[in-house]
Amino acid sequence: MKKILILNGPNLNLLGRREPGVYGSQTLDDVKQLCAVACAAHGYALDFRQSNHEGVLIDWIHEAGAAQAVGDVAGVIFNAGAYTHTSIALHDAVKGAAVRLIELHISNVHAREEFRQHSYLSPVAQGVMFGFGTHGYPLAIAAMAVLHEQAEATIK
Ligand code: DQA
Repeated sequence: MKKILILNGPNLNLLGRREPGVYGSQTLDDVKQLCAVACAAHGYALDFRQSNHEGVLIDWIHEAGAAQAVGDVAGVIFNAGAYTHTSIALHDAVKGAAVRLIELHISNVHAREEFRQHSYLSPVAQGVMFGFGTHGYPLAIAAMAVLHEQAEATIK
């Protein structure tokens, strides 16, 4: 069974107690459970990770690109947290690894501070999901299933 890799960046380990008015009351473990149900419903295995370290996230993107190339991974759903708005290195990693990627944010970043309105990931993502709270994760899994199935149909 192919995997969908879900990567979470800095401070997302604090979900549930971090600014609940913005990010809601679900913990990252709760989100993982939502994702497990959605992946199973779409016929994918789930690989769900979180790191506060940019280099670790870069290594995981490289790993995902290699796994996608051999057919083990359908794509990556990436909530890069604040690195979204700062990291040219993550932009380059996604481009270099040629990985299928959906950028995800729990909050509506365009309705927030101006510094959140630029993303280094959007130009290298197939799609972007934001503003749906933690429900965005299962929605992004459904979107990834569509993208992946379309790509497979093109190859055949
Ligand atoms: C976030 C939005 C980012 O601007 C912020 O730095 C985060 C979380 C979101 O999920 O809404 O850490 O990616």
